[in-house]
Amino acid sequence: MPKPHILVTRAVFPEIIEKLKLHFEVEANTDDVEWQGEELVRRLQGKQGAFTTGGVKIDAAVLAGCPELKICANMAVGYNNFDIEAMTRHGVMATNAPDVLTETTADFGFALLMATARRVTESEHFLRRGEWKTWRYDMFAGSDVHGSTLGILGMGRIGQGIARRGALGFGMKVIYHNRSRLDAGIEAELKADYVSKEALLKSADHLVLVLPYSPSSHHAIGAAELRQMKPTATLINIARGGIVDDAALAAALRERTISAAGLDVFEGEPSVHPELLTVPNVVLTPHIASATIPTRLAMANLAADNLISFLGGKGPLTPIVPVAPAIAASK
Ligand code: GLV
Repeated sequence: MPKPHILVTRAVFPEIIEKLKLHFEVEANTDDVEWQGEELVRRLQGKQGAFTTGGVKIDAAVLAGCPELKICANMAVGYNNFDIEAMTRHGVMATNAPDVLTETTADFGFALLMATARRVTESEHFLRRGEWKTWRYDMFAGSDVHGSTLGILGMGRIGQGIARRGALGFGMKVIYHNRSRLDAGIEAELKADYVSKEALLKSADHLVLVLPYSPSSHHAIGAAELRQMKPTATLINIARGGIVDDAALAAALRERTISAAGLDVFEGEPSVHPELLTVPNVVLTPHIASATIPTRLAMANLAADNLISFLGGKGPLTPIVPVAPAIAASK
C-alpha cells in the first residue's frame, strides 16, 4: 500500500522525522521557515496529514485550498491556531497534545511567579549593569510567595498543577475561578476555593492565568480588571497572548496599579508591546512554558502518534472535538 503523504510544518527533533518516515512520505521543513497562507497551501498539496505547531494557522482559506487534507496534529495543547469550526466543516481531524506537558508547564508557571514576586530578572539586570555597589535594607524587596493567596483563572490540568504546588509546597491559600467548578473531592485535595472572578481579582496576591484563548477570553484581563487587583499583587500569564490587554497591563505596571507581572505569552507574539520592554517590573520570557527536552519530545511524539494512528485507520489519540473522527474517517 502506498504511504500517505504528510507535511511537517516546522523543524522538529530528527528522531520524530525518522519515526514519521516509517509510516509516511514526509516533506519536512528542515530550514524551519514559517509557512503560512498561500505558501502553506502550496506545501500541503497532495498531503493527507500535517504536523503543526501553535503558530501555524489552519483557517478556512487554507482548508479550501487543500481538499486532500484529513488531519492536522498540533504539537501544542492550545489550538487557537486552528479554526475548529472550519476544520469540522471540511472534515479535517484536529488533534492537540494535552497531558504530556501539564507538570512541566505548571513548574514554569511557578518559576515565573517566583521570579516576578522576588524580582529575579530585574535585580539580575541591575547586577549585570554594574550598579550593585552596596547593601540596602529594601534593595529589590519583593513580595512573599509562601503563605500568600494564589489566585488561578482557568482551572484545567495545568491550573490544578499550579494549585497543588502552591497549596502543598508553599502553604498558599488557593482560590480559583473557572467556567465550571471542580468536583468537591478535587477542591479538597488541592485545598482550592471556588470564587467569583471579581473576588479572585480582589483577593489574589499572585494571579496566574491558565485559561484557553477564545473570543470569550479575549482581554479577560484589561484596565478594569487590573484596577480591581491589589496594588501589591502580581499577574502571571502562561496561557495565551490576547487574554491580557498588553497595553493596559503596561500602563498598570508603569503606574503601579499592580506591583509586577510575569509574561510568557503576548498579543501578536513574537512582537512584544514596546512599553512592556521598558517597564522594569515585568519578567518576560519567549513562550517557553513547556520547553524542556523530555516534554517537547513527548509533545512531538504525541502529535506524530496521532498522525500514525489516524492515517493508519485506528482513529485519533487526542482529538480536540470528539465527534470529528466519524466525519473525517468517512472522507
Ligand atoms: C503551548 O503554548 C501549548 O499550547 O502547548
